[in-house]
Amino acid sequence: MSAAPAAIIARGLAKSFQRRTVTTTALASIDLSVAQGEFVAIVGPSGCGKSTLLRLIAGLLRPSAGEVATNGHAVTRPVTDIGIVFQNPVLLDWRTVLDNVLVQIELRGLRIADYREQAVALLRAVGLGEFLASLPRELSGGMRQRTSIVRALIHDPPLLIMDEPFGALDALTREQMRIDLEALWLRTRKTVLFVTHSIDEAVLLADRVVVMSPRPGRIEQIIDVDLPRPRGIEARQAAVFVETAQRITQIFLARGILHQSRGL
Ligand SMILES: Nc1ncnc2c1ncn2[C@@H]1O[C@H](COP(=O)(O)OP(=O)(O)O)[C@@H](O)[C@H]1O
Ligand SMILES: [Mg+2]
Repeated sequence: MSAAPAAIIARGLAKSFQRRTVTTTALASIDLSVAQGEFVAIVGPSGCGKSTLLRLIAGLLRPSAGEVATNGHAVTRPVTDIGIVFQNPVLLDWRTVLDNVLVQIELRGLRIADYREQAVALLRAVGLGEFLASLPRELSGGMRQRTSIVRALIHDPPLLIMDEPFGALDALTREQMRIDLEALWLRTRKTVLFVTHSIDEAVLLADRVVVMSPRPGRIEQIIDVDLPRPRGIEARQAAVFVETAQRITQIFLARGILHQSRGL
């Protein structure tokens, strides 16, 4: 029996954007392999090509060089067997929480009746059991983002891609979302590729953290995070957390992405 293919394999992946006479090299030569069920975070400065990398993997953009495969299939067009969560949840204002989740099923031409029960179960699992019939405007930002995460998972894709999903939330909500996302991941064991600006968030969530350099984005280092799960709140006190976060901070200091205090 052959082992399951890697969830993601990128080889020599690069992307340049051409606008009139100006060429922007967003990504240069990315090699990355993500195993089935792994939680990988990507952290790097703004504009280093994180979203571009996710779009290449999802097949929403074509690479300028190199290749990418998901679950053993070369990506040549938008990958359908995938869940995507963006920074701002795009919900339909006139549809309830439950119906916003089921949009995914409708758009895919699947039978709603086959997914309703699972939608309710997942919404309950993320604490939205009492809000199934609420409209997006009746929800907090965190609750809206929870709805969009459930929507990204409802068709049971093996791969979940999240592009700064907690970036628009306040710090407390963000911490809770982080804890709940880990619980959801432990329950579903999807492969997750999670982009964030937050070093702490990356270390607290991921099995491995991909540290990117400024544009053109390259992988600077990939760091294993050897922390037991669930990590919860206490993980912040763990020596491994503190050391790993420091190591990443050091990389950013060395690269001039972070600076010691210059006294404002
Ligand atoms: N469609 C596009 N056309 C031209 N330039 C783009 C396009 N998308 C992204 N870029 C550029 O590529 C670089 C990387 O962008 P992006 O992947 O969004 O970075 P990040 O998500 O890390 O902030 C930026 O300089 C951005 O301006
Ligand atoms: Mg981005």
